[in-house]
Amino acid sequence: MRAVAVFPKVREVRVINLPEPPPVTGSHVLLKVLEVGICGTDREIGAFEYGAPPPGSDHLILGHEALAEVVATGPDVTWVRKGDLVVPTVRRPCPQARCRPCRAERQDFCVTGEFWERGIKEAHGFLQEWTVEEEAHLVAVPRKLADVAVLTEPLSVAAKAAEQAQALQGRLPWERAHVRALALGAGPVGLLGAMSMVVNHFDTFVYSLEPAASERAELVRSFGATYLSGQDVPLGELRQKVGTFDIIYEAVGVSKVAFAAVDALGANGLFIFTGIPAHGSPSPVDTDTLMRNIVLRNQLLLGTVNASRSAYELALRELEQAMFLFPRSVRALITHRVPIEAAPALITGHGGVKQVIALSSAGTP
Ligand code: BGC
Repeated sequence: MRAVAVFPKVREVRVINLPEPPPVTGSHVLLKVLEVGICGTDREIGAFEYGAPPPGSDHLILGHEALAEVVATGPDVTWVRKGDLVVPTVRRPCPQARCRPCRAERQDFCVTGEFWERGIKEAHGFLQEWTVEEEAHLVAVPRKLADVAVLTEPLSVAAKAAEQAQALQGRLPWERAHVRALALGAGPVGLLGAMSMVVNHFDTFVYSLEPAASERAELVRSFGATYLSGQDVPLGELRQKVGTFDIIYEAVGVSKVAFAAVDALGANGLFIFTGIPAHGSPSPVDTDTLMRNIVLRNQLLLGTVNASRSAYELALRELEQAMFLFPRSVRALITHRVPIEAAPALITGHGGVKQVIALSSAGTP
């Protein structure tokens, strides 16, 4: 079978051939991988700047945003059935007894850093024709979401943020009729975050660099959010020109941009960072103003990474709602579907919103 792997030592990304997986045992499930989405993290790994192969391996099979079909189940599998559509989660728990989050199946909050992430950190990913996974790490997907369910993993990042936001903003016990929310960045994570906020009835804005007449801006408006172009409103003028936001969902991964946007956070607001910036040269921040405002405005700044099973389940419910409300906009997020041979070029290149590698079709042998 074919897979796409990165070889960090020789700096190569290529299609490789591997033996077919052996028959499944225990609680393992054999999956036929249907589709794998590509994101900024894959591009960083493909540029040899992030990620790590499994110990002892010279390569890492890429892919952490997958949709798959169950082909065979081990004898101890309880709920997964042949023919089911599933999305596997990414992170696996660390082995340390003292890591309470991992022992509670909340490895998204691992405290030791010894977790694995499939396709990212020390575990092969899903960009291969077949893969084996523990039943416990699979999330069932309704068949009617088959053509967009590859978006579940990136949406799970927004869903975890939404779960956190709900818990944290429970500190404001009065009814808030009107929540103004801003997604910073119009990449897949920003757009999916904005869709999630629209589904949750927030008055949603997306801020990005593309002009107000661009396709990206049109896509934003198509699902009922307001597009704000950096070419019309500089970040520093957002507060005066557009007003403040109760929630800002950062999805640009550029720290200078992210911190400039904190100024537009309103009283009692929550700023959520999701981007992982590359290490650059230090840039100055006016820490007095930042701290003064955070205190005087009762603000929260939150970082969030990865997602638990509950966030995947929430993401699937939100995807279903989004497909009911604006199916064309959801489908428009997937701008490329290419075969596995084209994956290395896609991973080392740019363009489009969500690029997907199509490996197989559901139901085919
Ligand atoms: C993935 C997360 C992962 C994070 C850090 C993101 O691209 O969506 O699952 O935890 O990278 O490696």
